[in-house]
Amino acid sequence: MEDAKETAVSSQIVALQARIAQLEQQVSDYQHLEKKLQWLATFPEQNPNMVIETDLLGRPTYMNPEARQRFPELWQQGPSHPLLKGLRPIVAAFVDTDEEFVGREIDTGDAVLEQKVCYTMDGDVYRLRIYTHDITARKRAEEAIQELAKRIVQAQEEERQRISRELHDESGQALTALKIALEILQGDVPPEADGLRQNLGEAIALTDSARDQIRMLARGLRPPALDTVGLNLTLEDFCHTFGRRTQLAISYKGTKGLKLEDAANICLYRVLQEALNNVAKHAQASQVMVKLWQDETAVHLSIADDGLGFERKASAPPQSAGLGLLGMHERVELLDGRLEIDTKPGQGTTVIAHLPL
Ligand SMILES: Nc1ncnc2c1ncn2[C@@H]1O[C@H](COP(=O)(O)OP(=O)(O)OP(=O)(O)O)[C@@H](O)[C@H]1O
Ligand SMILES: [Mg+2]
Repeated sequence: MEDAKETAVSSQIVALQARIAQLEQQVSDYQHLEKKLQWLATFPEQNPNMVIETDLLGRPTYMNPEARQRFPELWQQGPSHPLLKGLRPIVAAFVDTDEEFVGREIDTGDAVLEQKVCYTMDGDVYRLRIYTHDITARKRAEEAIQELAKRIVQAQEEERQRISRELHDESGQALTALKIALEILQGDVPPEADGLRQNLGEAIALTDSARDQIRMLARGLRPPALDTVGLNLTLEDFCHTFGRRTQLAISYKGTKGLKLEDAANICLYRVLQEALNNVAKHAQASQVMVKLWQDETAVHLSIADDGLGFERKASAPPQSAGLGLLGMHERVELLDGRLEIDTKPGQGTTVIAHLPL
């Protein structure tokens, strides 16, 4: 009897010990969780970037030390502060879609700030948590690079124009004078000096071809027609001349009367130049279609060939050994435009430049 009691008690003790161990494990789990929660709660406090929490109307409910220090007036100004403006459509997007956050950039004039706006819950209340960090230095550096690149292109064009004029006006005229002098000499050669006359004839022909070459070089550097007959005819003429020289069948369809800035004219001319050079060099095409057109917002130039096409990474700009595609991208982007390249091996290549008006 005593034995049976003892057995029952000891099995109860074992059960209780097991329960205690279980509870101890739970307490330790809770402690662990609490520590983690505490750590998470202090996180925004130590965050070197700004962390702001607002209600769904954009009224601040929390600011971490960095945010309090940078924008002390934000508590007062609430949703009218530049940092908290325009949150309404973002909230609407959160409600309508499954988006968890929206990224945006804010330029306050003094600073450029990158924001990540998240939809979160504080207990059972919806909140917006806004992580903000200052990217002013990076932005300004990028702008400086853009500005510099623009100036390099400009300087390059001015230099080309100068060399082109020099070649045309100085070297071209000198060769013309030389040719006239040679012709006069040829006229003075006595009839018996046949060899000399022939030599002079060859010198005249040489002078002629040198002058043609110089004229072509000068035109390539800066097509004078751009200033006189405008973009449309200049591009058309370029297509014809290029087609004749390379035996490529190029058809051209343009739009008359475009009034673009000089930089845009030059940009489109250079795009056509490089695109056609690429067709001649790489495409083995039989047909090229060039189109220039305009709509309300932009002017477009497309060059489509039916040649070999090529493999390229989806993300522009391209990483190739050549500078041509890269240069086209850069020129177009400097004017806030976009260059599209549509190509696949075996399916030809279409290059389209879009420039905003
Ligand atoms: N129309 C095209 N048809 C087929 N391949 C092309 C065409 N355009 C470009 N490519 C391919 O893309 C590559 C890059 O062209 P890109 O113009 O940048 O350089 P490149 O013509 O080789 O050299 P560069 O223009 O500097 O003289 C070319 O080498 C070629 O393989
Ligand atoms: Mg090229």
